[in-house]
Amino acid sequence: MKIFIDSAEVDEIKKYSGIIDGVTTNPTLLRIAVEKRKEVKLKDYIAEICEIAGKGRPVSLEVASVLPEKMISEAEYLYRNFNGIAGNVVVKIPISVGSFGSSIDGLKVIKEISGKGIPVNATLIMTPSQAFLAAKAGASYVSPFVGRVDDYIRKKLGISFGKEDYYDSSAVQEYKKLKLSEAKMIEDAFKLYDLEGNSGVLSGVDLVEKIKRSFENYGIRTEIIAASIRNVRQVYQIMIVGPQIVTLPAYVLEDMIKHPKTEEGVKIFYEDAEKSGYRELFEG
Ligand code: E4P
Repeated sequence: MKIFIDSAEVDEIKKYSGIIDGVTTNPTLLRIAVEKRKEVKLKDYIAEICEIAGKGRPVSLEVASVLPEKMISEAEYLYRNFNGIAGNVVVKIPISVGSFGSSIDGLKVIKEISGKGIPVNATLIMTPSQAFLAAKAGASYVSPFVGRVDDYIRKKLGISFGKEDYYDSSAVQEYKKLKLSEAKMIEDAFKLYDLEGNSGVLSGVDLVEKIKRSFENYGIRTEIIAASIRNVRQVYQIMIVGPQIVTLPAYVLEDMIKHPKTEEGVKIFYEDAEKSGYRELFEG
C-alpha cells in the first residue's frame, strides 16, 4: 500500500519526502497553508509542492469551481501550469457538485478530462456507486472519504464525537444483533438493518472494502485512495482491506510511529549503552 501525505504544507511535505509516495491537497488544506504565510504567491507555492514531491509521486490538485465549463478549464490550467515541473499532477474533481449545479456535472467533467489524457482523482466519494461511476468515466483514482462517512453515520445514530475519534462500527453491529432478537414485527427488523442510514455502508472502512470488492468483480484498474483518515486505528483497518493507497495527515503519520513502550525501550538501551561503555566503542 502506498502512503500519500494529505497536506498542502510545504514543510510537512519536505519532512516526509523519501517516506511518502505522493501528496493530496484540497482547497481547505491550501487555505490553511496560505493563511500562515503573508506574502505567498499561490502559483509559486503550488509549484513548490509539485517540485518537492518529485517525479513519480503524484500530487492531487483540486478544481475550484462547480460549473462544468469552469471545472474543465481549471483542470486544464492546473495540468498545463504545474505538470511540467515534475510530471506528477493529478486533477481532483468532485464526483458530484450537487446543489451547486447538476449532480451529473462532476461525472461528465471526469470523463472529458480523463479523455484528454489528464489523470483524474475523483474526490468526495461517499458510496460504492459513486466510485463505480467515476471509474467507468475514466478516473485514474477514486478517493473514498473514510472519516466523513463515519461522521455522517455517527450523526445519524446520534453519537457525539470529536474529529479524531475512532468510530467502532462493530459495536453498532452487536447492538443490532441484540435488538433483532427483540424485534416484534418484520418492519422493526428492516429498520434495524439500515440503522446507520447509509444504504448498507456500515463505516468509512466498510466503504473502502465495498469499493475494492466491486472493482475486483469487474477488473477495474482505477486505484483507490483511502482518504479523510483521522486516526491510526482506521489506518490498521484500511491496511487489512488493502486499497492501493492511503492518504494521511501528518499527525496520523506521526502517531503511526509512536508507542510508549518503544520510547521507554530506546531510553533504557541508550542508558545501558552508556553504563556498559558500549557507546565508547563508536567514538574512536
Ligand atoms: C482527501 O484527499 C482530502 O484531502 C482529505 O482526506 C479530507 O479529509 P478530512 O475529511 O479530514 O477533511
